[in-house]
Amino acid sequence: MAVMTTLFEPLTFRTQPGIPALEARNRIFVAPMCMYSATGQDGQVQPFHIQHYGTLAAGGASLVLVEATAVNPVGRISPADLGLWECEDPVATAALVEGHRRLVDAIHAHGALAGVQLAHAGAKASTYPPHPGNGTGVMPLDQGGWTVVGPGDTPLAANLGLPQPLTSDGIRGVVADFARAAELAEAAGYDIVQIHGAHGYLLHEFLSPLTNTRTDGYGDSPASRYRIHCEVAAAVRETFTGPIGLRVSASDWVPEGVSLETVIDCVRAVDDACALAWVDVSSGGIPIDQPIPAAKNYQVPFAQAIGAALAEEDIVVSAVGMITDPHQAAILVDDDHIDAVSLGRVLLREPTWPIHAGMTLGLHPSELPIPPQYERGW
Ligand SMILES: Cc1cc2nc3c(=O)[nH]c(=O)nc-3n(C[C@H](O)[C@H](O)[C@H](O)COP(=O)(O)O)c2cc1C
Repeated sequence: MAVMTTLFEPLTFRTQPGIPALEARNRIFVAPMCMYSATGQDGQVQPFHIQHYGTLAAGGASLVLVEATAVNPVGRISPADLGLWECEDPVATAALVEGHRRLVDAIHAHGALAGVQLAHAGAKASTYPPHPGNGTGVMPLDQGGWTVVGPGDTPLAANLGLPQPLTSDGIRGVVADFARAAELAEAAGYDIVQIHGAHGYLLHEFLSPLTNTRTDGYGDSPASRYRIHCEVAAAVRETFTGPIGLRVSASDWVPEGVSLETVIDCVRAVDDACALAWVDVSSGGIPIDQPIPAAKNYQVPFAQAIGAALAEEDIVVSAVGMITDPHQAAILVDDDHIDAVSLGRVLLREPTWPIHAGMTLGLHPSELPIPPQYERGW
């Protein structure tokens, strides 16, 4: 018997006045996942990316969010990250956009929305791509690494780089790079951009008291710690016409870390800066001395709390983390404060999870986004 659920009902992202609303065909998103596969060390999309993201779109998710894509070379987690930045040679910039345009086309070919996560890895940049056979931790300068930047001058962990504190000019440069990356994302045809504010990367490093001890206007109060978020969001609003999302780490999992209250204030301030359309609620990423209690739904209470705080706002709230079962996903999106689920690893194992989930929940194949080419397989 069919389960009553909104999981396969369309979802609308708010847009700017005069821009048509953007509709996702269901409430299952592909979470951003770095593939570390830009083989030329130049941020370029490779055939692997086209195949990978096209397959995820064919699997039935409504929004395929392309992995953390660096807004400048210093902000790459590794040399194999994707990029969207202004190169010295305009031909190289055009080639970056062209690669992403092909990626967007591969996603759109299967009826999914295409989004890209714009990112700066801060003090967690310049590491080896975490593939078998590679080193771990910081990649030294003589092996192709580079000097990393952050709010302060303390490495986040013993195996990470020694950051150079960003000056106010440096912060302005990062903000401008986010704006340019968003402009290039628009040129590539992306429907949505997500600002990466989670997982111990640059914006989260500014937000968290664990990593930001600055005494200037970018660190001397909770609001100062999310000033960079607001500046990035406002700058991205100037160059990108579609919906803007923000991924947050809602907790550092230690009492001295960022408070949920500050995260909610940050989201509200970002909303004021850019008319935020979506908040994707993750956690963690700043190295701590104890393991995170990762288990089924472990981040869901954060999404519920943020959703409840934003109940009056037209902002899509998605939960993420160890959501692997169709009934679990259905229960979550039927919660008053959660609108969608972002799925990560389960989609690497099973890219057609959304279609399987629909069948499991009793929907007829004709109600599911099965590509016509594959229709006879179902
Ligand atoms: C291979 C891999 C790469 C990831 N890369 C990113 C990334 O680029 N940006 C990001 O915000 N999170 C990244 N994540 C985290 C996922 O988006 C997701 O939040 C996490 O895997 C938890 O969801 P899951 O339990 O459904 O996998 C990555 C996770 C994996 C497994």
